Amino acid sequence: MSEKLWIFDTTLRDGEQVPGCQLNTREKIVVAKALEELGVDVIEAGFPISSPGDFNSVVEISKAVSNPIICALSRAVEKDIDVAAEALKYAKKGRIHTGIGVSPFHIQYKLRSTPDEIIERAVRAVKYAKRYVEDVEFYAEDAGRAEKDFLARIVEQAIKAGATVINIPDTTGYCLPEQYGAIIRHLKENVSNIDKAIIATHCHNDLGMATANTISGVQNGARQVEVTINGIGERAGNTSMEEVVMAIKCHHDIPVETSIVTPRIYETSRLISKLMNMPVQPNKAIVGRNAFAHSSGIHQDGVLKHRENYEIIDPKDVGVHESSIVLTARSGRAALKHHLDALGVVLEGEALNEVYEEFLVLADSKRDITPKDLLSLVGKYVDES
Ligand code: KIV
Ligand code: ZN
Repeated sequence: MSEKLWIFDTTLRDGEQVPGCQLNTREKIVVAKALEELGVDVIEAGFPISSPGDFNSVVEISKAVSNPIICALSRAVEKDIDVAAEALKYAKKGRIHTGIGVSPFHIQYKLRSTPDEIIERAVRAVKYAKRYVEDVEFYAEDAGRAEKDFLARIVEQAIKAGATVINIPDTTGYCLPEQYGAIIRHLKENVSNIDKAIIATHCHNDLGMATANTISGVQNGARQVEVTINGIGERAGNTSMEEVVMAIKCHHDIPVETSIVTPRIYETSRLISKLMNMPVQPNKAIVGRNAFAHSSGIHQDGVLKHRENYEIIDPKDVGVHESSIVLTARSGRAALKHHLDALGVVLEGEALNEVYEEFLVLADSKRDITPKDLLSLVGKYVDES
């Protein structure tokens, strides 16, 4: 039996922190509505204390969407929590996300504090947030580099103080999948009240491990994943939602399911890319321009014989109309024939071989082969028939 995997989207908070990606309130509402249609469970709408604009966006998003939980970020500081609660006052379901650094680096150099004091501050913040909302998420910042037993202690105390969700961020993208999974397992095995809260993954992509770490977290018991569309976010980005959702959909042995309406993925990806002025790299998994494009002869022949020879995802499942057979100098006869057939030109045997030789010469000298090029190549055969 599959368990629910909560999809927590932080495109509008962690994603929007990226230089050049800032959105105004109107644009954020468009994104929030698209996320609602996509089926996300939680929208992290912003960090209300950070600016009046961000505060206002959380207020307006709370009014504009109904189904997802609306989450507001705060540090473990009473003033932050007051402002987050105020920004959430119109949310049908509101969550305050509060927390503090837990790694030796953060405790010593950022917070200039001690482990015991950090636990006290965490507990105070969770209890304070509970005065406003039932749903309080605690984040243990830089948990990826924290000392595991200290992490278990603070998590236990945060749950005791009322946290409903425990977020374990790999803030610096330091972990390898086995390490990150081991952190989640350690919490499952060593925190006495862990079953009273949902464990969340929150991975950054500094070593290109964000998706792998997130999946490893889920395999070890996490039941919420914190993600962004297209993997946008600080530095090398956050875990990409589309990658996690489709990895889970493809691997039935991971015993969870999400409520994401996957055929809406591509459209949502384009919307975010356009509004945030952030191009998607062509080879990006799931949503890149080339994700369903086949260009070498062997692959083209294989995919034309049976789609699943070279595709693990049906493009329609993520909202891409169909995969493409790209014509280049590496293409084979099968690809050429496929394109000619689509133009209504049926060539076989020697005629096809001849056109193919001419096609290769042209493709060596030209990057994009257009239908017009093909028609001029086959001209004599068409005229003769
Ligand atoms: O990466 C991180 O640690 C965060 C927290 C504020 C949740 O974004
Ligand atoms: Zn983050």
